[in-house]
Amino acid sequence: MRRRDADVRELMDDPACDPVRLDRTYARFGIVNAVVAAPRRTYRRRIAPRLRTGGVRLLDIGTGGGDFPRAVVRWARRAAHPLDILAIDPDPRAYGWAMRGPHQHGLRIRQMTAEAVLDAGERFDVVHSNHVLHHLADDEVVELLRVSERLLRPGGVAVHRDIARSGLAFAAFALATLPFQPWLLRGTFIRPDGLTSIRRSRTARELSSLVPDGWEVRRGWPWRVEAVRAR
Ligand SMILES: C[S@@+](CC[C@H](N)C(=O)[O-])C[C@H]1O[C@@H](n2cnc3c(N)ncnc32)[C@H](O)[C@@H]1O
Repeated sequence: MRRRDADVRELMDDPACDPVRLDRTYARFGIVNAVVAAPRRTYRRRIAPRLRTGGVRLLDIGTGGGDFPRAVVRWARRAAHPLDILAIDPDPRAYGWAMRGPHQHGLRIRQMTAEAVLDAGERFDVVHSNHVLHHLADDEVVELLRVSERLLRPGGVAVHRDIARSGLAFAAFALATLPFQPWLLRGTFIRPDGLTSIRRSRTARELSSLVPDGWEVRRGWPWRVEAVRAR
């Protein structure tokens, strides 16, 4: 665990993986994220304050099953100002699953890359990702961050959130998920891929050594890291 294992692959990243198991995995992301990634805290800190003073355009990159943007639409339903969300994922399987959810006013889901969004000329107040950076090689992380800052409107913020690798995080995830494996996580990739994700993820120091000028890397609790850029 001292060194990042960039060679180990998540089962869900195999294009030939079992589609039924993959769909069950997308279906469980919301529950798992609520426990490990504190998405509501991100909403309260990054989105809600902006919604008090004006409309907000949010881009969620690598949206997976789309549970974060869908939750944001629900949390913001009484906001004084409009919320416009674009949720993107390059993987047609994630896109297909996310699209099967109900239509929500203010949420667009697209199968596309951040570069394509940039080329289309769209700009955002908040650019966000969760659990995407550890899927990427170092040069791809740098490229994603560079594209993210160009996607910001003046005054906007980009936040890429991920796991911070540690032996303790690995042991805690292995132990905490074990009782759930026979029922809640049964038939999903959550446990094996979660453990692989921790091995692939970066420490705050490793991420700090990658980010372009103007980006800040912050540690979160428990075993979280985020790269932040304000414009
Ligand atoms: C572990 S899932 C996380 C999904 C969601 N953000 C969440 O927190 O539940 C990682 C997602 O990143 C997507 N992804 C992988 N490479 C990407 C890239 N270069 N740009 C955008 N998304 C990417 C994958 O298709 C996958 O849906």
